[in-house]
Order: sequence, then structure tokens, then C-alpha cells
Amino acid sequence: MTDTYVGAIDQGTTGTRFMLFDHDGRVVASAYEKHEQNYPEPGWVEHDPLEIWENTQNVVTTALSDATVSADQLEAIGITNQRETTLLWDKDSGRPVHNAIVWQDRRTTDRVEQIEDEDKVEMVRSKTGLEPDAYFSATKAEWLLDNADPIKLQRARPQDIRERAEEGEILFGTIDSWLIYNLTGEHITDVTNASRTMLFDIHEMDWDAELCEEFDVPREMLPEVRPSSDDETYGSTDSEGFLGAEVPVAGAFGDQQAALFGQTCFDEGDAKNTYGTGSFFLLNTGEEAVESEHGLLTTVGFQRSGQPVQYALEGSIFVTGAAIEWLVDVGFIDDAAETESMARSVDSTDGVYMVPAFTGLGAPHWNQRARGIVVGMTRGTRKEHIVRATLESIAYQTRDVADAMEADSGIEVESLKVDGGAVKNNFLCQLQADILGADIVRPVVDETTALGSAYAAGLAVGYWDSVDDLRDNWQVDREFEASMASEEADRKHERWVDAVERSLDWAQE
Ligand code: G3P
Repeated sequence: MTDTYVGAIDQGTTGTRFMLFDHDGRVVASAYEKHEQNYPEPGWVEHDPLEIWENTQNVVTTALSDATVSADQLEAIGITNQRETTLLWDKDSGRPVHNAIVWQDRRTTDRVEQIEDEDKVEMVRSKTGLEPDAYFSATKAEWLLDNADPIKLQRARPQDIRERAEEGEILFGTIDSWLIYNLTGEHITDVTNASRTMLFDIHEMDWDAELCEEFDVPREMLPEVRPSSDDETYGSTDSEGFLGAEVPVAGAFGDQQAALFGQTCFDEGDAKNTYGTGSFFLLNTGEEAVESEHGLLTTVGFQRSGQPVQYALEGSIFVTGAAIEWLVDVGFIDDAAETESMARSVDSTDGVYMVPAFTGLGAPHWNQRARGIVVGMTRGTRKEHIVRATLESIAYQTRDVADAMEADSGIEVESLKVDGGAVKNNFLCQLQADILGADIVRPVVDETTALGSAYAAGLAVGYWDSVDDLRDNWQVDREFEASMASEEADRKHERWVDAVERSLDWAQE
């Protein structure tokens, strides 16, 4: 019998990956392509959706051909994606009306502050579980409706975009919707991505009329919301299309929720932290949407067809891996892998703290006007100290959200599953264990984001029978135990908190 596989498209902030998984959850093939980051103005970040779709097709075909697997051997495709990133496109031509506005983009900061002035914060929080911030999709969609240039539509009838959106001719989507649309022709999103738009009521599990009115986003342009793992499937690829086969697309997840699923955090109390462009710490709170009193988000964790929604508390840290990229950009290192040996080459940061608040600060501070700082430098400060301080900032930011998580849930974090590119760095994993005073557990498959979406799609089509199959697949690569005295960890963390105070509200304009 021919072997069959499940494929996962992982469309992240910096690039797109396609991975093929076998029944044991092992990686059979993988291909990756980066895409352009566009910064048209300070604080603005855009991606070209057509480039993303082009790259998606490339990585799928490359991985299949590398593994000499034919598209017919794919039982299903799952999608996972950078969340909140927003685009609008023409329903008929499929052409985007503008570049996608990326989750990191700060152009709608003033608009969000207007919400704060209007005292609607509580309404937004209680319905969406989110802290009003330019991070989420709603104000990005509003900006596009007001500012995208209709001429770019290349249509004979260049009428106002908003008017056409009201007629359902212009569609809204996050990146999952964009990919599902291009793969299957259907306009669909999953519950986890919907929960990041600031237009979706996570208790009613539906688009909310009051929020749509507040942000002036026509209901007609919003996608149908479906479970993350959907037995009905979202649709199939076209046998005439780039794959040359009909493959069901049966799962979609925002990337952080995908990692939660891929780490098999199926039960209440299970937690993971993913180290990507940013870091995202999620705790499964079961069927209860726990409201945070300490600056965390309440979000949809996952939903399988016919089963209740599982919620999560989330600590969203905007800049962690991106701070390492910044070290490359300014020439301190050539490659992220160098950070481990450079950090080890000095005994400490010599009192230097680096707060990478490049796009404001997310959880638990939620300060849109915070900006990055390096404090404590002396004439003896070397780039090694700054590199080490940058790695330390990742561990401290995680401690900030872990403390908030404990305060909200009453559950002490004793052991944390980690994943994402940066966990290859043993120095960082040990430091994280020390600063948290908890065990850090790294799995064999650290691409758990892709794995989670493959699991969602594979469960939907019966490739895997139950979540017990998935639990059996999960294996530990290495555990890191805390070796620093807790007084020392607390002292260092307190100094970090002082540094954060200095970064807050820096950008007044
Ligand atoms: O919420 C933003 C997040 O989904 C981005 O993830 O992995 O692209 O940094 P990543």
C-alpha cells in the first residue's frame, strides 16, 4: 500500500513553510521561503499577499518533490498562520486591494486611543477577551476600507471600496482565509483566527454587530467561521490547480493555537510557550473563558467539529526572535546561531538590560507607545553583553507573563513545554528555566506549529483516530531544570522591571 501523509502550510511573519508529516507525527519533508518585509513609514509593516501565495505554492511543490511524494498521497492539508495580519481582496478577481497590514503594524494607534477615550474598552474586553490595541485586525480593516486606493483594483468600475465591501464584493480575511480562498475558492476562517480580529464575540462564537459598527466593518465582507478541525472540510484543492489533485483542506489555526495543539496541550492546565518573531505563552483553561485581571488575553484555544470550544489565556510578547533579527541587522552577529556562544563568552551582561519594545509592549503591559531601550552601559560594554542582554530579555518577558498567568489562574507554572526556532539555543532554554524557576521541556519536533495544524486536518479526515494517537507521538528531546537560586532570579527580574518602566510611553507622537 502506498504511504500517505498530511501536509501543513505554516505561513509565519517572516516566511512560509510546508511540512509533510507521517502517521507517527515525524517530519518527512520541509521547504521554506522568506518574503519581503515592507516598512513604508516608521511603525508600519506590510506584506504582499500575492508574494505569500506564490511562496506557498513554491514550498508545497518543493517539499513534495524533495520527498518524491505525489499530491495524491496527501490525505489532507492544514493551515496555520501569523494571526491578526489583515487584508482585503476583490471577490471576483481575487486581487488584494492593498498590501496586508501586519500584526506588528502601529498605524492605527491613535484610532485605538480614541476607543479608550470613548470608554468602550470594557465592551471590547468583555466580548472579545482582547485588550484594545492596534495589534488586532479590526482597526487595520477599518484603515484599509478608508485608505486603500480603488485604482489598484484594476476594475472597470472603480467605485468606493467600502461601498463594494457592503455589497460583499470586497472580502476581509486574515492570512488563513486568504490561503483557504486561494486553495479552495471558499471564504472561510477558523474560530481561533476569528478570535483575534476584535470583531468576534468569543462567548457567542459569532461576529458581533456592535463591534462591526464601532469599527465600521461591513458584516457582508466577513468570512464564515468554522471549527479549527473540520470534519466537513473547508473545501478541496482543484485538480486543475497548481497541485494537480483534489486534496481536502480540513484544518486551520492561528499559529499560537496550533502550537498549543501540536504540543498536545489538550487539557485544562496544559501550557506552552513558542519562541518565534514574538513569544506567545498559552494556558489551556478548558471550556471556561477565564477573564484576566493581570494583562493577559482570553482567546479561543481550539475547537473540533461537534465538540465544545476550548479557551486559553494568552501572554502575547511582541518582540523576542525579532530582537535577534535586529542584532543581525545592526551587524552584531551574522546569524542567530552565534548568540549562544557569544552569550556564553561573558559571565554576565555587566549590568546591561535591553528592552526590545520595538512595536510597543504587549502582555502584560499593553503600552502602544513604549519603545526599545538599552540601559546600564559603561565604557566597558561590548557587543557580547548586548547580545546576552537581548537573550535575557526573552527570558524576562516570559517571566512577566508567567507571573500574570499564575496570578490569574492560581496555577503555579512548574513545567513549561517550549517550541519555535529559538529553543535550539540551549543557553536560552537554561536561562529560561533559571529565571522562571520551572522545568523547561523541549520536544523532539520543535516545529509544533505546523504539526498542530497537520493534526487538526488529519483528525478531521480520519488519518488519526483520536487525540490519544497524538499524545503517543509527543516525545521529549531535553529537559532543563532551574539551577539559579530563586533570590538571584528575583533580583535580576526586578532590575528588568525597572528597565521596562523606563521604556514605557516613550513615543508620545
Ligand atoms: O499574533 C502574532 C503571531 O501569530 C505571530 O507569530 O510565529 O509569525 O511570530 P510568528
